[in-house]
Amino acid sequence: KASKTNARGARPIRNATVLGAGIMGGGIAYTSASRGIPVRMKDIRQEQLDLGSSEAGKLVGKQVSIGRLRQEQADAVLKAIGAQLDYAGVDTTDVVVEAVVENLKIKHAVLSEVEALVRPDAVIASNTSSLRIDDLAVPLARPENFVGMHFFNPVPVMPLVEVIRGARTSDAAVATIVSYALALGKTPIVVKDGPGFLVNRILTPYMQGFGQLIAHGADFEKVDEALESFGWPMGPAYLNDVVGMDTGVHVAQIICAGFPDRLRRTWKDPLGVMVENRRFGQKNGVGFYRYE
Ligand code: CAA
Repeated sequence: KASKTNARGARPIRNATVLGAGIMGGGIAYTSASRGIPVRMKDIRQEQLDLGSSEAGKLVGKQVSIGRLRQEQADAVLKAIGAQLDYAGVDTTDVVVEAVVENLKIKHAVLSEVEALVRPDAVIASNTSSLRIDDLAVPLARPENFVGMHFFNPVPVMPLVEVIRGARTSDAAVATIVSYALALGKTPIVVKDGPGFLVNRILTPYMQGFGQLIAHGADFEKVDEALESFGWPMGPAYLNDVVGMDTGVHVAQIICAGFPDRLRRTWKDPLGVMVENRRFGQKNGVGFYRYE
C-alpha cells in the first residue's frame, strides 16, 4: 500500500551517481543536473555513455531553443554531468541510482561493486521496474542503505517516482530518496516491495489485454486511436514503442510469474513475437510504428 511521502531524516544530497547510461540514465542525469545536483554517469560501454550524453545534450538543447535556458545556463547543466567508464570519485557520492540492465545477476554484481566503493552512509537506489528490492539486496553488506527509486519514461516529463522500501531498508534511506525525488521536481510515492510495485502491477494486465486483442486480430492503430480518445495520453502500441518492447515484455514476464493465477497467458503473445523480430520501438527505429 502506498504511504504518504515524508522526507524527515533525509541525508543531504550534494552529488549523485547514475550507473548505466543510455536514454533512461541520460534522462535521470539531465533531470538531476538541471535541478542543481551534479551527477556522474558510469557505464561499461562507451556507446552507452555517448547515448546518455547525447540524450542529455538534446534535452538541454531543447530548453535553449525554446528560450527556457540561456546558453551559459545550458553549459552549466552539461558541465554538471560527468560521463565515465570507471568509478572515479564515487567515494564522494551521496546517492547512487543503479539503472543497468534488468537482470538479477548483473544488478547483484554492480550493486556489490559500488557498495564497496561508496561512503558507508551513501544511499544506493535501484531503478528496477519489476525485480524485488529484497531479492536485489541479497549480496549487500548494508541493505539498510538500499532502496528502490523507479522512474518512468520519459524521465524528464513523468512526475511520478516510486520509492520502494525493502524489508531491511532504513527510514533514513527512504527519506533520502524521497527528498532526492522532490529535489528533482518529481512526485514520490513510497510503496511496498512486490512484483511490479504499484504502477507496473496495474500496467501489465492492461498490456496483456492489449496483446490479447492484437492476438485476436485487432488493428493496433485503431486500439491506439480508441484509447487516446478515451483520454489516455498515448495508446498501448505507441507506449510500448516508447518504453521499449524488450523492456515491456521482460517486465511483464516477471510480473506474470509473480501472479501466476491472475496473469496466465493462453494465447501467443504478439509483443513477444515483436521482440523476437527485434522490433523494440523508438530505441531501434521500429516497433509498432517506424521512427526516423
Ligand atoms: N523526452 C523529454 N521530453 C519529452 C519527451 C521525451 N521523450 N516527449 C515529450 N516531452 C516533453 C515535451 O518536450 C513537452 O515539454 P514542454 O511542455 O516543456 O514543452 C511535454 O513533454 C509535452 O509533450 P507534447 O506536448 O509533445 O506531447 P504530449 O502532451 O503527448 O506529452 C507525454 C508527452 C508526457 C510523454 C505523454 O504522452 C504521456 O504522459 N505519455 C504516457 C507515458 C507513460 O505512460 N509512461 C510510463 C511508461 S511505463 C514505464 O516507464 C515504467 C516501466 O517500468 C517500464
